[in-house]
Amino acid sequence: MLHTPEVNLVFAWAWVLAGFLSGLVMGLFFNREDWLGGYTSLKRRLYRLAHISFFGLGAINLMYYFTARHVLGHSPLQPFAAWGFVLGGLTMPLACLIMARWTRAKMLFAVPVLSLVLSGALTIWELIKI
Ligand code: HEM
Repeated sequence: MLHTPEVNLVFAWAWVLAGFLSGLVMGLFFNREDWLGGYTSLKRRLYRLAHISFFGLGAINLMYYFTARHVLGHSPLQPFAAWGFVLGGLTMPLACLIMARWTRAKMLFAVPVLSLVLSGALTIWELIKI
């Protein structure tokens, strides 16, 4: 069983790989002008957002790993921030894909947004306590 913050490091690299693979899939179709309704269609934008969010949230988990490992001390709050970054990373591309299918599912973005905002705030709180 992985512990924090190592879980963030593994997650970060898994999400970089997921970003490459999602890019590969999009690369098979992106030259078609009308793919998913065209470049500016909501569906296509949400697919792109999912692709980019793999890299962005992978990078944030990597940043958190180094911050937790080398800067922060042990604290009972730390696992909440660590798992919150993982939850945000998991649910952001998921929300993109679900909303690409069901436009009305927009409120699903509340899950990644809230967990990322809380984890970011917790990390800052832990840093200024040092
Ligand atoms: C194996 C590596 C990658 C592949 C095969 C790939 C593939 C693609 C494809 C096909 C698109 C166009 C999607 C469309 O037409 O709707 C795209 C868009 C994009 N990719 Fe990737 N990508 C890769 C890596 C990356 C990396 C490393 C980043 C950044 C860290 C990145 C960021 C973006 C961004 C920001 C867009 C949107 C560009 C725009 O809206 O003009 N991609 N990618």
